[in-house]
Parts: sequence; structure tokens; C-alpha cells
Amino acid sequence: MDYSVKTGDPSKQRSACLVLGVFSKRKLSDPARAVDKAARGALSRILKKGDMDGEENQALMLYETPGILCDRILLIGCGTKKEFNRARHAKAVARAVTLLNDGHAMDATLCLPDLETKDTDLYTRIRDTVLRAEESTYRFDQCKSEPKPPKRPLKKLTLLVGDRRRLKTAEHAVEHGRAMALGMNLAKDLGNLPGNLCTPSHLADRARALGRKSRRLRVKILEEKQMKELGMGALLSVARGSRQPARLIVMEYRGGKPNSKPVVLVGKGLTFDAGGISIKPSPAMDEMKYDMCGGASVLGTLAACLELKLPLNVIGVVPAAENLPDGAANKPGDIVTSMSGQTIEILNTDAEGRLILCDALTYCERFEPAAVIDIATLTGACVIALGKHASGLMSGDDALADEILAAGTHSGDRAWRLPLWEEYQSQLDSNFADMANIGGKGGGTITAACFLSRYARKFKWAHLDIAGSAWNSGKEKGATGRPVPLLTQFLLKRCRLTP
Ligand code: BES
Ligand code: MN
Ligand code: ZN
Repeated sequence: MDYSVKTGDPSKQRSACLVLGVFSKRKLSDPARAVDKAARGALSRILKKGDMDGEENQALMLYETPGILCDRILLIGCGTKKEFNRARHAKAVARAVTLLNDGHAMDATLCLPDLETKDTDLYTRIRDTVLRAEESTYRFDQCKSEPKPPKRPLKKLTLLVGDRRRLKTAEHAVEHGRAMALGMNLAKDLGNLPGNLCTPSHLADRARALGRKSRRLRVKILEEKQMKELGMGALLSVARGSRQPARLIVMEYRGGKPNSKPVVLVGKGLTFDAGGISIKPSPAMDEMKYDMCGGASVLGTLAACLELKLPLNVIGVVPAAENLPDGAANKPGDIVTSMSGQTIEILNTDAEGRLILCDALTYCERFEPAAVIDIATLTGACVIALGKHASGLMSGDDALADEILAAGTHSGDRAWRLPLWEEYQSQLDSNFADMANIGGKGGGTITAACFLSRYARKFKWAHLDIAGSAWNSGKEKGATGRPVPLLTQFLLKRCRLTP
């Protein structure tokens, strides 16, 4: 989609459709009132007829409004003005864009970003608008033999802002929103691609393709032989259960000063998780193709960095493997030695994410990171604890945790912190090795993070469990592209490019 921002009188716009907000009960928003005036009260007369009173979920398409240059006007119900907030604004945008994309208009002028709310500024509303518009028009049909795209898809959105002095801010918001959406769409595409196509080698190929786009991004792929030389016994033990060889994807984005320490993002790239010998139950097992969404979010965030040419050094590390049962697979009770030298008793082969991540974390020491954030669909327990709306955040570093929480709130891609207290660590005690790979009953999300913390002692570190937030189940099944907005916002803020 093509986006532009513009100032001017809503009633003087020329496009296939002008989108206006209406509050309940039958209260025209300011731009709608201006249009109503130019149309000599045509909008008020229609509202009086009662077809639309501005409630949420209502929409009304009008044609040939007198005194207006647009072919159509789309009235979008916004609910009461008092309750109108960021979430409702975003919903109104999504509804408008969905209708436009399915309808006949191929370009539209949106007056919704100018509707103020207590919890947003113009920058936020514009950026949300771009994200919601991209989300509403996203489709994954590359595996359909006959894709059925909309007949007349929406191609161009003009965002109208009243205040001429805010034009620069609005343009930055569009630019940032587009980059985030680009990253999210890449993360979604990779997530939705099935396990037979999205293998560790495929992820590596996609990373290489990203690297070809810019001289600032250097991509290095480690094969199993190199991982063996590094002593990555935990990562390789997971890969042994699969015919697909593991890969360690390393993407170095050098946008900052050569000597400035990088932010390192580590993403779990488990391209299919059947559980291994501790095999999962069959229902919804297909959704375990999404077990690489952490890795996909790292590729997506780096794609956003490239697009924005961020003046920062960022490194992405994605351990990629498949977890299947096989004669060579890990068995419960097996003990492996990680790259750090610490030994691990594998009591459940389904707790494989931490096994591939621990070696990836040790690998990160060489970068002398400013901070490391790992992102992983790590525990079913996180879905129980937080559901789909928040990613789980764990860190021993309060300043880093606060920075991540703030980035989540600002981007509307929120995280919620869980404790990482010392007391939980003993749940990982093993009689036979330095630690077990599971923490028993209680606090499964936290004990998984405790496990990782033992491999992150040499740098500032935080862990995001995205098991609940990375994809939707049921009828709306599909990857969400989260937490690309949170991560991109985190990096933008580190460059002082956003509020
Ligand atoms: N990838 C799963 C976590 C998961 C499960 C994410 C369901 C989303 C939905 C992970 O590898 C896993 O299997 N974790 C186990 C850990 C357990 C054996 C300690 C889990 O959560 O059941
Ligand atoms: Mn698992
Ligand atoms: Zn997994």
C-alpha cells in the first residue's frame, strides 16, 4: 500500500472515498462536520434517518454527496466520544480499510488520524493507522493453487491531518509504521509457511536474501560442522532427531559507529516442534510450525532496521532446528554438554527451545553486546499465565526490563513482566548433571527463563516469551508478526528517533 500525509480541508479532497468518523449518538467528528457543512447538511440528514448512529462496528457508504469531490464517503462508527481511545481508533481504522479493500474504491482519504484521544498523540495514531491498514490487507495465499485476491484492492491511503505544523511528525510516523509493517509481514510470512517448506535451511536462505539487500547487513550461516567445533552440544542434540540439518543464522547490521556495542536479538527458530520422544498430543500440533516465530521476529526487525537505515549496530542470531522423534533423537535422561561447558540432563525432550537458545546465548558473548534480548515461543505455561495479549518478559536487569516494557506500551505490542527470583532456580536441580532442562510443576515460564539466565551471565539480558502472542489460533489462525513492533520501537528509541 502506498501512504501519504496531507493537510487541507476534508471537504475539498479528491479521491475515490473519503473516510469520516461518527461518534454515538449521531455526533459528527470535526472533519465530518466540515464535510457536512460543505454538503449543506447532507450527512446530518442521513444520520437523522437512523441508519447509522455512530456505534462501534457500524459503517455506512454514501454515494454522490452534493458539494463533495470524492465519489464516496465512508462513515465509520467510533462509539462514544468519551470512551474513544487508542484501541478503538485502531479498530475503526481496521474496519474502514477492510471495507475499502473488499469494495470498489482503490484509493481513499482517511480523516480518522485527526480524531484525538486521551491516550495518543498524532504520531501514535498515524503509526497505528499504517500498522492496522497493513494488518487488515495482509493475506497469506502463496500455498493456494488459485489465490483469490480482492478484485479491486485498496492501493493508496492519504492520511489527512488538520495541523500543518504536524506534517513532519506525521511523515516520520508513516515511515516508521511502514518499516514496522514490512518487518511484521516478513515475520508473518515465515511463520505461516508450513514446516515442510520453512526448514532451518530455508530460514537461512531467507536471511541471506535479506543480506543481499544492503551492504550494512552481513549474514553468516553456521552449519553443523562449525557448531560441533564450537561445542554446541545442546543445540546439536535437538537437531539429531531430524533429517533437517540445524543452522545458526548470524545477521550483523552495522548502522552505528564501528566501535559502538551492538544490541543482540536472539530468536528461537524451531521450524517444527513435535516434542521429540516426549511427543506432543496430536490436537493442534500443526500450530507448532509457529515455533520459529521468535526467529522470524528477529529477521523482521532486521528488515525494519534496513528499511529505516537505523544508526545503530544490531545483531540477529537465530538457532534453527526441528524437533522430531527419531532413533537418533534425545531421550529422557540423556545428558548433553552445552557450549558454555555446563551439562544438562534432558528430562523432557519437548523442552527443546532452551536447549537451542542456551548455545546461541553463549555464542553472543563474542559480540560484547550492549544488551541481549531473546525472543521465543518457549512455554505453554506463558499462554496460560498471560493469554494472547501480552508477551511474557523476564530479566534480572530492571532498567532493561523497563525499557522493553515502555517500548511495548508505546508500540501497542505489550509485554508483562514476571519475576525471575533466585528462589525459582533450585527447581532446575539435577542429580546427575549441572541442571535439568525442566523445572517441574509451577512457574514453567519462569523456570524456563531461569534456565536461560545461566547462559546470559556475561551481558545485560532480557527474555521475551511469545508463546501466546506470536500467532492466533482457531478460525483466525495466523502469525501476528509480534513482537516486531516492540523490538523496532526499542531500537528506534535507542537511536532517539521516537518519543
Ligand atoms: N514450543 C513449545 C512451547 C509452546 C507450547 C508454545 C504450546 C506455544 C504453545 C516448547 O518447546 C515446549 O514444548 N515447551 C514445553 C515445556 C515443558 C516440557 C517444560 C511446554 O510448554 O509444555
Ligand atoms: Mn517443545
Ligand atoms: Zn518448542
